[in-house]
Parts: sequence; C-alpha cells; structure tokens
Amino acid sequence: MSTYEGLVAVLGANGGTGREVVSRLRHHGVAVRAIARSEAKLAAFAEQSIETAVADVRDPASLEKALAGARAVINCVGTRVGFANAGKGVADFFGFGDDGADAVDNRGTANLLDAMKRVGAEQIVIVTSMLINQPLNPFSLMMKPFGDILTMKDKAEKAVRASGLRYTIVRPGGLTNQPPFQKGVKVAPADALSSGSISRADVAEVCAQALWTETAYGKTLEIVSDDTAPVSDWKAFFAPIPLDAAAAQAATAGA
Ligand SMILES: NC(=O)c1ccc[n+]([C@@H]2O[C@H](COP(=O)([O-])OP(=O)(O)OC[C@H]3O[C@@H](n4cnc5c(N)ncnc54)[C@H](OP(=O)(O)O)[C@@H]3O)[C@@H](O)[C@H]2O)c1
Repeated sequence: MSTYEGLVAVLGANGGTGREVVSRLRHHGVAVRAIARSEAKLAAFAEQSIETAVADVRDPASLEKALAGARAVINCVGTRVGFANAGKGVADFFGFGDDGADAVDNRGTANLLDAMKRVGAEQIVIVTSMLINQPLNPFSLMMKPFGDILTMKDKAEKAVRASGLRYTIVRPGGLTNQPPFQKGVKVAPADALSSGSISRADVAEVCAQALWTETAYGKTLEIVSDDTAPVSDWKAFFAPIPLDAAAAQAATAGA
C-alpha cells in the first residue's frame, strides 16, 4: 500500500531537487507525475515509465492541463540567475526578464495555486529558501540585484499561506548534491537560520514526508544538515515548529 493515497505532481521535476523528489516519492510507493517545461526534459522519466506532463508556471492553461487529477503538488521550481543564464542577455542575467524571479517564483506560484484550485488539488509542499525576511544578511544583499529573488519567494510564500490549501513551506539552506541520509537535519522555525547547507536529496525526503505527516501542515520550516543521526521519527521532527499565524487561527476557530 502507498504511503500517500492519490497522485502527486512534481513541478520542476527536471531540476536538481525535483529529480530527488520524484525518486523519494517512488521509493515510498507514491503515484507521481513529473512535470517540466518540455518533453525533451521529461525523456528520462518517460524511459522509467514515470507519468509525465509538460507545463510552464507562467502559462496557467498548461498548468491546469498538467495537474488534472493530482491530489497534491510538490513545487521545486526556481528561476536561475547570473552565469547560469550567460549568453541570454542582461535582463535574464539579472533575473528580471520574462523568465526571472517575479515571473517564475512570484507570479508562477500564484498561477500554480489558482490551477490547483481549478483541478481540485488539495495540498502543496513548496521549496523556497532560507534568508527570506533577512534583508540585511550579506547573502540577501548580494542576491538583491538578481531579480530580488528572496522578495519574490516571500510573495510566493504569502500566497501559499493565504491559499486555503493544506501546505508546508520548506526553506532549505544552500543546496548540495551530497548523497542522502548521511547526516541529520536541523529544523527551525521561519527566520531562525542564517547559515548552513543541505543535500537536495535530504530536502526531497523532507518534502515527501511533509505530504503525509500531519505535524508538518500549516507550517514554514527552515532546514540545514547537522551532525546528528539521520531523521527516523518524522512526526517528532516537524512537531516543534509552530503553526503559521493563519493556520494557528484556523486551528483555534475549528477547535
Ligand atoms: N541553489 C541553492 O543553493 C538554493 C538554496 C535555497 C533554495 N533554493 C531553491 O530551491 C529550489 C530548488 O533548487 P534547485 O537548485 O534544485 O533547482 P534547479 O536545479 O535550478 O531547478 C529548478 C527547476 O525549475 C524549473 N523552472 C524554471 N522556470 C520554470 C517555469 N517557468 N516553469 C516551470 N518550471 C520552471 C527548471 O526547469 P528547466 O529544467 O526547464 O530549466 C528546473 O527544473 C529552487 O526554488 C531554488 O531557488 C536553492
């Protein structure tokens, strides 16, 4: 039997974290649909008989089509800036172009939430970033000219919290490609961490567990690796993080 009943759509499935999320969901026996911006980017999934769909978060119609039948979404989409866009022009280099942080991280998330509601999806786990709401941190200042990306992710988070959908917001530190489960994961409330890194595979496992672990719902959490043992009790892992204000109010009203 699957750990989670229903289809989970993974946005940004061809990215570093997205690929790991698809892999962890399959490990847990969950039905997955990998979503990326072109068939070519989905070829490796199709070869493994993984369900696929094409969508761009800037295109609401493509999202609605790609999400049909999904119960949940794990969103690993993120714009790239700087030398990752070398040769594409100044606007793309600085993340202010049609493919920049406002279009993708901010408005793209709003499009995604709207599409989820239209197709009846009920739950989202979104990967954003540590340092949102820490504008004076040197790294935040360094990123500011690049599409104001942390502000755009902040806007995306606010839209998720206001969406009425069940959600978990996962803010990782710097991402690495280290193998999974070599280390423990330090988890902290929003705005508590300002340094550290974590492997994309470990982020992926946190996202997967957040789907079916109730103590993760309605929360914003920050994660980095630490030198403790790998996580074994996920209910206890998420439990100390407080509910976001709106989720706490809703819980009080419903009590
Ligand atoms: N890098 C870090 O150290 C770091 C730290 C903290 C948080 N984060 C955040 O963590 C998340 C995952 O990071 P990552 O490094 O694993 O990401 P990544 O490898 O750069 O992958 C991002 C994915 O987003 C997709 N994407 C971009 N624009 C899109 C659009 N308009 N519509 C649909 N998909 C789109 C890309 O698709 P294509 O394959 O088509 O380009 C790619 O698959 C991102 O949100 C990132 O900002 C990163």
